[in-house]
Order: sequence, then C-alpha cells, then structure tokens
Amino acid sequence: MLLQENVPLAPLTTFKVGGPARYFVEAQSIGEVEEAVALARSRRLELFVLGGGSNLVVADAGWPGLVLKVAISGIEQRSSDDGKTLFEVGGGEPWDKFVAHAVMQRFAGVECLSGIPGSVGGTPVQNVGAYGQDVSETVESVEALDLKDNQVRELCHEACGFAYRSSIFNTSERGRFIILRVTYALTGGGEPRISYADLERHFDGWESAPNVAEIREAVRHIRALKGMLIVPGDEDCRSAGSFFKNPVLTEAQHEGLERRAATRSLNVPSYPALEMRKKVSAAWLVEHSGFRKGYGSGRVGISHKHALAIVNRGGASAAEVLALKDQIQLRVEEIWGVKLEPEPVMVGF
Ligand code: EPU
Repeated sequence: MLLQENVPLAPLTTFKVGGPARYFVEAQSIGEVEEAVALARSRRLELFVLGGGSNLVVADAGWPGLVLKVAISGIEQRSSDDGKTLFEVGGGEPWDKFVAHAVMQRFAGVECLSGIPGSVGGTPVQNVGAYGQDVSETVESVEALDLKDNQVRELCHEACGFAYRSSIFNTSERGRFIILRVTYALTGGGEPRISYADLERHFDGWESAPNVAEIREAVRHIRALKGMLIVPGDEDCRSAGSFFKNPVLTEAQHEGLERRAATRSLNVPSYPALEMRKKVSAAWLVEHSGFRKGYGSGRVGISHKHALAIVNRGGASAAEVLALKDQIQLRVEEIWGVKLEPEPVMVGF
C-alpha cells in the first residue's frame, strides 16, 4: 500500500474543486483498509473515506489528515433462497458498471439507477435514488469495517436505517463504518419499473412494455438531457449532481408554501412522499427565487440543463461554490419560507 503526500483531490471528484489530501492511500482489499486505519490512528491523522467522488465538495484547503480511497473490486453472483439473485459487489466498483452488468443479464431492480456516477460503496450511505427507484429496495446487506472496535461486520437491510437520501451511515452512525462491499438482491427476468413521470413520457405510445435494457438507455438519455450524466466536454456535468435535497414538508408547511405561490400566481409542483408529508421540488424553489438555469456569469453558476445543479464552469474555488449555495439558501428562505439542505458531503470545512 503506497502512502502518498499532497495529492490533489479535485481530479478525484466530479465537481473538480478543492485542495489536496495531506496524505492519501488507495486500499484494494479489506486488509489494506485495516492497514490504512491503523496508520491514521498511529499518526493521529483524521480519516476521510473517498468513494467515487461524485457527491463531494472539497474545501480549498483540502483535507489535513489521511484520505482513504476504497478501491475494493469484484462482482460475485449467487442465488438466494427466495428465488432472487444476490450480487456481492466491491465498494470500489463504479456503480454504473454494476448496473450495466445486471441489466445485460436481464436482472431488474437497479435499471432506473443507470448513469449515476460514483462508486458502489457510496450508494447505501445516502440511499442513492432516481427515476422511481432507490438502492434501499435492493440492498440485502452491507459489509463494513466498524471503527468502534475494528471488526468487520455484516449489516442487514434493517440495520442500515434507510430513508430518503439517508441511512445510519450519514446520520446516527456517521463516521463509524467504512463500507467494504454491498450485496444487492435482484430479480432475474423481473419487470422493470416505470413509475417516474419522465420515464412514462419517454415510453408513451410504445406498443409493448420496455425491457430493463430499454429502461437503462432511456434513463441515461434523460439524465444526459439534465446534465446528470458524466459526458466529457459537457461543463454542465462538472457538479455534484443535485446540490439540495427535495424538502419534505408537513401538511401545514406545504399549505404555507402554496399560499405564497398563489400570491405570485404560481402552482407548486408536489409529490406525495412519506405519509402525511409532502416532498417539494428544490429545483422549482431555486428556479423561482431568481436562479434560473444558466444563472451566473463567473466560474460557478447554475447548470443550463437543471436548476438543482451548481456547476463549476472551470477553475472555480470551493469558496465560490459555497457563496452561491449560501445566496440560494438565503433567497429561497426569504421568498418561500423553506430551508434548503445541501445534498453533497462537505469535506474539510
Ligand atoms: N424542476 C424545475 N426546474 C428544473 C428542473 C426541475 O422546476 O430545472 C421541477 C419540475 O417541476 C420537475 C421537478 O422539479 O418536474 C422534478 O425534477 P426532476 O425530475 O429533474 O427531479 P429532481 O427532484 O430535481 C431528483 C433527485 C435526482 C434524481 C431525479 C430523478 C434529489 C435531490 N434529486 O431530482 O438525484 O436523478 O430526482 O429521479 O432527490 C442527485 O441526487 O444528485 C440526483 C441527481
């Protein structure tokens, strides 16, 4: 295992902002992850675990401790008792490589999550979701190193505590576990999911139901139109994807929002979410607070393709990104009375 010093982190992220890691190691095996943890402890270095770097904003000063990139690879397949097929996937595998692998063999369960950047190990952390699916529907278990007692543990689905964009890994037990491998349970020859409006529209008029491969192609196409697919040369994808979570409001909060919208002759687009609550579109709130698609003439701005993505137009600093984030949060709260919560992980702030 090679210990490197002063390694720039920006190139390891999709946002391409931020400074270096004081120390950096890449771990190909569980043994190497344990070695890196021991090293951080002995040198009293604060540890940051890096996956695919697709949901991060790294501070301009970088990370003063040790960055550990989990590069555990491998996809192993076996049948389970309930007729499903289990895929045990290394945390360092690119997520979309696994989706392609599953879809090619006609397994259903992750097809709507096509084209999402990042690594497998990151997916349970924020319960990655898109186009009507999220990984909590297929995560069977998570193998993780517990930093409390240095034991490798198998966390079952229930133990992960999944909710919208969250799990124990980014809430109650943040920083406790390093995810090594994830096991997903997929259905061979299963029916693909078409529940999201964009997908319904895409397949409108089709005579026969699309298969998982067709769903994958459609999702990648729709993501590209929104700048949410990593396409070399497209500056609208130099981002961390959605910069804010879609706020989940109480009935009363939602009514308040609708009243404010009515005074402006607007209708709030809304989606039924968890019982008695309403999830509203953060993109809509951003767009209706003066930050339209393409906003900003400097090095940071809003994507031309989606109002929820803050983009690095080239050479942006993390400070500039955070300044725009603050400005957006302030305006949205002033106008709509809703506090937007950032979605990406902030590193080194
Ligand atoms: N909208 C706007 N302006 C825009 C874009 C969207 O007003 O520029 C409004 C429209 O009313 C639209 C609604 O927002 O109908 C929803 O937009 P979209 O379908 O693009 O989804 P989203 O809620 O903005 C979420 C996830 C995405 C995921 C998509 C598709 C969050 C924070 N974001 O976005 O995830 O790909 O749904 O399922 O939940 C990510 O987390 O990084 C991410 C890209």
